[in-house]
Amino acid sequence: MTEPLLSIRNLKTHFHTDEGTVRAVDGVSLDVDRGETVCVVGESGSGKTVTAESITRLIPEPPGEIVDGTVRFDGEDVTAMSEKQLEALRGGRIGHIFQNPQGALNPVYTVGWQIREAIQLHDKKAKDKEARERAIDLLDRVGIPDATSRIDDYPHEFSGGMKQRIVIAMALASNPDLLIADEPTTALDVTIQMQILRLLNQVQEEFNTGIVMITHDLGVVAEVADRVVVMYAGKVMEEGDVYEIFENPSHPYTRALLECLPGRGEKMSAIGGSLPSTTSPPDGCRFHPRCPYAVGDCEIGEQPPMYAVDDGDHAVSCVHFEPGADPSVVLGEDGSDAVGGARADGGDETGGDAR
Ligand SMILES: Nc1ncnc2c1ncn2[C@@H]1O[C@H](COP(=O)(O)OP(=O)(O)O)[C@@H](O)[C@H]1O
Ligand SMILES: [Mg+2]
Repeated sequence: MTEPLLSIRNLKTHFHTDEGTVRAVDGVSLDVDRGETVCVVGESGSGKTVTAESITRLIPEPPGEIVDGTVRFDGEDVTAMSEKQLEALRGGRIGHIFQNPQGALNPVYTVGWQIREAIQLHDKKAKDKEARERAIDLLDRVGIPDATSRIDDYPHEFSGGMKQRIVIAMALASNPDLLIADEPTTALDVTIQMQILRLLNQVQEEFNTGIVMITHDLGVVAEVADRVVVMYAGKVMEEGDVYEIFENPSHPYTRALLECLPGRGEKMSAIGGSLPSTTSPPDGCRFHPRCPYAVGDCEIGEQPPMYAVDDGDHAVSCVHFEPGADPSVVLGEDGSDAVGGARADGGDETGGDAR
């Protein structure tokens, strides 16, 4: 039996603030295999970034604290590692593309110097000249025009989108086993976005890299994901094979998210209501206050366990999928009415011509 490259179990990362304890990540489990891309999706504020930053313990402690759970990387318990071991992991076997590229680049060094550092940190044998050539190649591959001369420029000489591409080049410099990419293409235009996604795919094929891709863009998910984890208010609502998630979305939250995708629902609709309080989240399913299918059981106790959907690689945290319950409440009578039924915003049909 081979262990996954990354295995997160029941992770709870909380922030102790004056307003109370923010339960940003509150019992998240997910696995990533070598060569696999797992997309973590969910609205802004659902705990995606905090999950990602907990993997290599980048959460500021205090106010943050990993209060429960384990993170295992290639068989080792990250939560038990020393700061020195963690530093070797970051920028080495685990590359991290941050949501905000500011701060990832040092303003006083040229970008070439910084990428070379990243290469040589990982590959001690690489001579300066060879590392420089590899840095130029990386800049070229992330779409920096005229990389041969731009390599000697400083970060402030690049636009925001260019800086993000340089950050991506740096994260790839060590040929990481695991790449954590937090909304890596959100700030970029569509052409560059596609180029970056293709590059990540190439790197993955070449090095069998596991990728955790955080995004709220379901178009990106469709493009790159093998598996999908849907997060809401610090919890996992649904997870499974990307095909299952798009063809057979089961949690009402996932169905509502998919409705927001152009061409899927009758119109692009935001999900009605807003994320619950992170300091005093609702009992039961955290989505129940916004859920059109909520029943009494949804409002009490804990978040429901992950129930298997069909026999595939697919599970959902929803009482309507408990063994013996009737999932057609959510799925519609024939069970195949993908998305059509989830009208989290009340089902106003106006302006829809997609049907
Ligand atoms: N340093 C912090 N102190 C207090 N709360 C925080 C801190 N960092 C993140 N949070 C809270 O954690 C929750 C999850 O945030 P985040 O992981 O950034 O969401 P996402 O990436 O899904 O948009 C949010 O409610 C956010 O306000
Ligand atoms: Mg985020």
